[in-house]
Amino acid sequence: MTAIIELNKLSVQFHQKGRLITAVKDATLHVEKGDIYGVIGYSGAGKSTLVRTINLLQKPTTGQIVVNGETIFDSEHPVKFTGQRLREFRQKIGMIFQHFNLLSEKTVFDNVGFALQHTQIEDKNGKKRYLTKAEKKEKVAHLLELVDLAELSDKYPAQLSGGQKQRVAIARALANDPEILISDEGTSALDPKTTNQILDLLKSLHEKLGITIILITHEMQVVKEIANKVAVMQNGVIIEQNSLIDIFAQPQEALTKQFIETTSSVNRFIAGLSKTELLAQLAEDEELIHLDYSGSELADPVISDITKKFDVTTNIFYGNVELLQGQPFGSLVLTIKGTVTQRNEAKAYLAERQLKFTVLGPIGKAVQ
Ligand SMILES: Nc1ncnc2c1ncn2[C@@H]1O[C@H](COP(=O)(O)OP(=O)(O)O)[C@@H](O)[C@H]1O
Ligand SMILES: [Mg+2]
Repeated sequence: MTAIIELNKLSVQFHQKGRLITAVKDATLHVEKGDIYGVIGYSGAGKSTLVRTINLLQKPTTGQIVVNGETIFDSEHPVKFTGQRLREFRQKIGMIFQHFNLLSEKTVFDNVGFALQHTQIEDKNGKKRYLTKAEKKEKVAHLLELVDLAELSDKYPAQLSGGQKQRVAIARALANDPEILISDEGTSALDPKTTNQILDLLKSLHEKLGITIILITHEMQVVKEIANKVAVMQNGVIIEQNSLIDIFAQPQEALTKQFIETTSSVNRFIAGLSKTELLAQLAEDEELIHLDYSGSELADPVISDITKKFDVTTNIFYGNVELLQGQPFGSLVLTIKGTVTQRNEAKAYLAERQLKFTVLGPIGKAVQ
């Protein structure tokens, strides 16, 4: 697979009030065509600075940037990439932002149309010319259709909801048929329901247009919903990067684990167990078990398996298992009730199926 974007050993430094700030440090990130690449980190981690180098809105201090096979920046072997070439290149990278950045005095239609004012196409004789008014109109109508806003064409931004404003921004970002769409916290100002609607829209655009998406966020839930790859940034450094599944199955860094925990409440449930009667009320022949599906490739119903095979009874107290790219992820906390032999056989079966589990109680029982 060839990368559509290669950021190689990029560093970005700022001089501010006599201080040197290294916003991005030695970052290497390769994005393949068709990826939805999530870049996650807390505020100030360097995400925006890193991603703004892709279209040279931010010039790196050192390193190399290759987009679509073309070296657009190389601190070792400086390349001239300016003027008309840079402008045309930038048109092929759409961008959306947290605060939408619409022009308040223009209608929805004109906000999108504005992105076409410098657009040139080649006519039959290979001569470049600007779009005609009719061509612009047709293109904008098509774009508004694509983001499901055709009816709001004559409205002004102030008359729109946050989600509708972001749809306008997406239509504008797509105006020049970009191959890459960058979302810099594009859902961060939206409520959870609207966030999901925008993520669904991005997913459908990804499918329909085959567009490559880079998505910056501080919310792991967003990454989990949509990304196939993830980079985690901290203090300007990409501390970890992997496929979505491997990040969730085997997170290496403390920060990555923290972000993953924000998408599940099982640890809070387990921590709160001591305050409930649940552990104290376990019967002699009952064990409370935490089953962790992260990293398992199992899709079959193990719980009904163990009840059938070993004649144990189960009772689920906490459950949050979902499919991530077709693989189950998440946790169950349940009791298994039966004779010692039955329970041991059931647990041996879980282990055999490569499921991670921990015995939470009765208290004093060795954790496995
Ligand atoms: N133009 C700039 N001048 C000086 N410092 C900057 C500039 N842009 C970003 N920074 C600093 O670089 C660091 C990373 O910022 P940024 O890339 O915006 O992080 P993020 O997008 O992850 O919140 C921060 O410390 C920020 O203050
Ligand atoms: Mg930012």
